[in-house]
Amino acid sequence: MAKEIKTIGVLTSGGDAPGMNAAIRAVVRTAIARGIKVKGIKKGYMGLLNEEIIDMEAKNVSDIIQRGGTILGTARCLEFKTPEGQKRGADICRKHGIDGMVVVGGDGSYRGAQALSRNGINTIGLPGTIDLDIACTDYTIGFDTAVNTAMEAIDRVKDTSSSHERCSIIEVMGRDAGYIALWCGIANGAEDILIPEKYDFNEQMIINNIIANRKKGKTHHIIINAEGIGHSTSMARRIEAATGIETRATILGYMQRGGRPTCKDRYYASIMGAYAVDILREGKTNRVVAYRQGQFTDFDIEEALNMKKSVDEYQFEVAHLLSV
Ligand code: ADP
Ligand code: F6P
Repeated sequence: MAKEIKTIGVLTSGGDAPGMNAAIRAVVRTAIARGIKVKGIKKGYMGLLNEEIIDMEAKNVSDIIQRGGTILGTARCLEFKTPEGQKRGADICRKHGIDGMVVVGGDGSYRGAQALSRNGINTIGLPGTIDLDIACTDYTIGFDTAVNTAMEAIDRVKDTSSSHERCSIIEVMGRDAGYIALWCGIANGAEDILIPEKYDFNEQMIINNIIANRKKGKTHHIIINAEGIGHSTSMARRIEAATGIETRATILGYMQRGGRPTCKDRYYASIMGAYAVDILREGKTNRVVAYRQGQFTDFDIEEALNMKKSVDEYQFEVAHLLSV
């Protein structure tokens, strides 16, 4: 029989993502509905080590589902990467009566969740990142909002780019993963998409493409460049020099990480938050919640971290076919 969980802690960690508030709200309200107390840990693992821990009632999460960011705050914490820090974190949980923990974050945060589990605190991870780069899940909290924000911004740049017959390089977030770039590339009808998983640094190919498109009568040329490739401004200078076509760089930056979450992010984050509480009640630990093949499910953290994910060849090919 699983040990009864009496108090659940919830924290958000790593880069924030729209929908994290919906997840926090779902954890708090599901736990309360199941007769479990909830404590909110501010600023991720750093706040845990600093004992920034507050009681959470249903009313504390009123009116937050529509807000971007995370009401608990988030942080990066080097100390939590050490065995001493991890043990101290688990001891602090015990001191505050926390016997179950929900961690919302990316792969790095899952490592911390795994460490808490190892140190005796039943812990469940939720996939919170705008990058969609968690292998075990087809959905991550925040991606839908971020990719829609980026898409709308790119539409606007495209309008002015066409009017001026310019080439535009638009840099979107994604240090290691090109999902935002790929999705926007297709959704915005970009002529070129540069992503860390695929780009071969053959700038001459891009230049040839721009010249060929201009000859065909295209009035704009949109290049979506993922942050992981970067250097958009210097790339724009080189392209302008080589083609003679005015070229501008726009770096969308952190505006992609903020803002009101989409319906999908609110909905999925809510289900995942509730799901995390319910599997904690079943006595599960060291698991991450995922959405895969149309189902909400969960995986062992180690198994999840060992899974590999890469951009789908076919989808990448289609992006190119459609850009002609
Ligand atoms: P993300 O969760 O978005 O991948 P990070 O990689 O920055 O973001 O990780 C967030 C936090 O998770 C780190 O600041 C650290 O506190 C914790 N963390 C990351 N890696 C580990 C690790 N190997 N062991 C324990 N905790 C970790
Ligand atoms: O949240 C993911 C992400 O946006 C990455 O795409 C990006 O590289 C990183 O976070 C940047 O985060 P920060 O500047 O906050 O470290």
